[in-house]
Amino acid sequence: MTTGDPIRVRFADGREFPADLGDSILDVALRHGVALDHACGGVCACSTCHVRIEAGADALSPATEDEEDQLDEARDVGLDSRLGCQARVVARPAGGSIGVRIPAWNVNLVREGGD
Ligand code: FES
Repeated sequence: MTTGDPIRVRFADGREFPADLGDSILDVALRHGVALDHACGGVCACSTCHVRIEAGADALSPATEDEEDQLDEARDVGLDSRLGCQARVVARPAGGSIGVRIPAWNVNLVREGGD
């Protein structure tokens, strides 16, 4: 990867999309039709946008106390858990891309036709 290459966000289903500095994981998901729930509209007031960061966490903004409080309410939380609306791309990932997995229970809750 050279400095001119786009930053990439790779979802666990294999789809990969470019991201700009400042984009949240939710921004990238919504821009490309990836079903990631976001009940509160991205204002850190729910935990429905919970994702697991499998690679490139070094390139994301650090979690705030508010985000950690919301994650306490989420299921299947681990050390790699983030809220998709709060984790923003702030640097180029060392490995070239940011790997994101949407927990299975979260996928199952996605409303048919919801955005
Ligand atoms: S959409 Fe509600 S906290 Fe992210």
